[in-house]
Amino acid sequence: MHDLLAEDLRWYEMIERAAATLADAYGFGRIETPALEAEEVFTRGVGLSTDIVEKEMYTLRTRGGDRLALRPEGTAPIVRAYLQHGMRNWPQPVRLWYFSRMFRHERPQAGRLRQFWQAGFEIIGEDDVVADAESVLVTMATLDALGLKDLSLQVNSIGCSQCRPLYRKAFVAYLRPRQGGMCGNCRKRLKANPLRTLDCKDERCQRVLQGAPEFIDHLCEPCRVNLRMFLEFLEELQIPYLLNSRLVRGLDYYSRTVFEIWSEQPASGAEEHGADEEGSKEPVRVLQQALAAGGRYDTLFRALGGKPTGAVGSALGVERIIAAMRAADIHPPEPAAPQVFLVQLGEQAKRKAPALFEELRREKFRIRASFGRDSIKSQLRIADKLGATYVLILGQKEVSDDTVILRSMASGAQETVKRGSLIPILRNRLQKAEQRSQRIPR
Ligand code: HAM
Repeated sequence: MHDLLAEDLRWYEMIERAAATLADAYGFGRIETPALEAEEVFTRGVGLSTDIVEKEMYTLRTRGGDRLALRPEGTAPIVRAYLQHGMRNWPQPVRLWYFSRMFRHERPQAGRLRQFWQAGFEIIGEDDVVADAESVLVTMATLDALGLKDLSLQVNSIGCSQCRPLYRKAFVAYLRPRQGGMCGNCRKRLKANPLRTLDCKDERCQRVLQGAPEFIDHLCEPCRVNLRMFLEFLEELQIPYLLNSRLVRGLDYYSRTVFEIWSEQPASGAEEHGADEEGSKEPVRVLQQALAAGGRYDTLFRALGGKPTGAVGSALGVERIIAAMRAADIHPPEPAAPQVFLVQLGEQAKRKAPALFEELRREKFRIRASFGRDSIKSQLRIADKLGATYVLILGQKEVSDDTVILRSMASGAQETVKRGSLIPILRNRLQKAEQRSQRIPR
């Protein structure tokens, strides 16, 4: 888990702003659930045999004996909140978004952190597959607003409670005689959660899986129609996609639509390890990461004690987006330089300086000062380093004359200004400096 310093937070703020803007445009209201939830929200919601619940959850027992977990993801808590606050009685669908930190005890590596942030969008109370397309749309629009190109949208349908067991049966029947050729982890998964073997990166497993039966051939008629409509909506929206019949997702609450958005651009310096659960140290290939992922989770409501409810959503991995932005040479805007730096000289001026600073701050000037320093040289050096446009110099003489010296950092030109007219003059000078800087071709 990492500290985030101001320099890092500029990236997070940029992504949060993009998500907030898109959320507003598509009518999502913000939600923030607690970082700690009852553990069963995830054991029941995400599924006992998933990697997240089995290996990656930070759990604790309270003094009162309750078992809690730091949220590893945001969807199950939101469904808990939807049920708890009677959001079923709100106009449906309820569109909620969040920008929150998540916790997973994973092996830390590029793009896989133990504390990470997700921006997420959930559409709850909508059975119609048009919401699935809307979910993809808002996710893609957020990535697009951040300037990310070369994205690949992978979609699949993992069927419903009717057709998935039949597929699972056919799949296990295919794998069982071939399991000797698979990695240890997949051999274990074959018992508890066989479909998860589908996205194992181990080459041995990949080879075995090549001839495996495909989901798409086992979908029941309603799921087939549903998938077709979803794809038609994407086509109408001109969102290119790749139908990936291996895409299953690592959370149990999905049915029908699942999707992931991958960056085609390798994140600089990042590597992914194949068969990581087995402890192999070999770098396999340059990391291609899912920047965002989601799907339909109608069954999650029943798992958390509610009535079945149509819902679909997605979450974007903020740190992975930052890595992709860096790789694409996209940066957050530089913080604005101060307009004025206040320099004080001498006992009297030092006493008056904080009040002058406060007066200008209230007038909305971007002002900085270094009240603890006495030498003019060192104060000017700081003003220069910060890139201040003007410096205000308050010395002994200025205090007794009720004036202040205004000095342009660009030209070095100085003028003495009456305190009473400082604010309009400063405003005027800054406006002119702004106009000048806009005229200078970059
Ligand atoms: P997820 O695939 O587990 O889905 O996570 C979504 C995204 O979060 C991933 O695609 C990745 O970008 C990022 N992410 C996941 N784990 C880590 C990690 N350890 N370090 C850094 N980034 C990570 C969900 O969480 C679902 N709740 C998505 C969803 C919302 N489904 C429906 N609604």
